[in-house]
Amino acid sequence: MNEKLLVGEKAAEYVKDGMVVGLGTGSTVYYTIQKLGERVAAGLSIVGIPTSIQTEELAKKVGIPLMPFEEAETIHLAIDGADEADPESNLIKGGGGALLREKMIAYLAKQFIVVADSKKMVETLGAFKLPVEIIQFGYKVTQRHIEKLGCTAILRVKDGKPYVTDNGNYILDCDFGDIKDPQPLELKMNMIPGVVENGLFVGMADRIITVNQNGDVEDQ
Ligand code: 5RP
Repeated sequence: MNEKLLVGEKAAEYVKDGMVVGLGTGSTVYYTIQKLGERVAAGLSIVGIPTSIQTEELAKKVGIPLMPFEEAETIHLAIDGADEADPESNLIKGGGGALLREKMIAYLAKQFIVVADSKKMVETLGAFKLPVEIIQFGYKVTQRHIEKLGCTAILRVKDGKPYVTDNGNYILDCDFGDIKDPQPLELKMNMIPGVVENGLFVGMADRIITVNQNGDVEDQ
């Protein structure tokens, strides 16, 4: 059973005619975007706002009309994946490196729906290392400040070079162990000069679509 397909396509049902829709990034929301492309071809009228260059390319390919984020007054609904979700619907995001635009778009959205296969549902956040987007300038200094919060912070590398986000920044993947109280960490992290944004999404998700132990799609 392809859980990503099940939850991704389910989320597309929440999209209605006339909506401005935030389009997340990753292999789960991929199925939402594909489904929306089919619905647009069948007459659905929506405008998408992509959270990454990768999603922009996919949305164009499937025929979803797009608008630039800076022109958005409102976003009716944003749909995105997650790397982990806890029972309070707090999330870790950023495995795909798009956390900054994802958070900006989710923050403007009136409703934020998360699509997560069952492996993403955890009791406590933190097994997945927390992605933190930092500016390149002085990144080793920023890394040391972040480690003082109680983690090991590893610079993300791709093809032997530091991974660079769509915004021209680096990512540190931070191992805190269990994150029992994510809210203070989210705030403290963003107080460090050089940190642009972190992948904790606390109290932002309105609904999580996942798959339960019986293999049924569950809408929480
Ligand atoms: C990208 C993200 C993704 O939503 C997250 O990594 C989940 O991805 P996938 O659906 O491929 O498992 O936060 O920055």
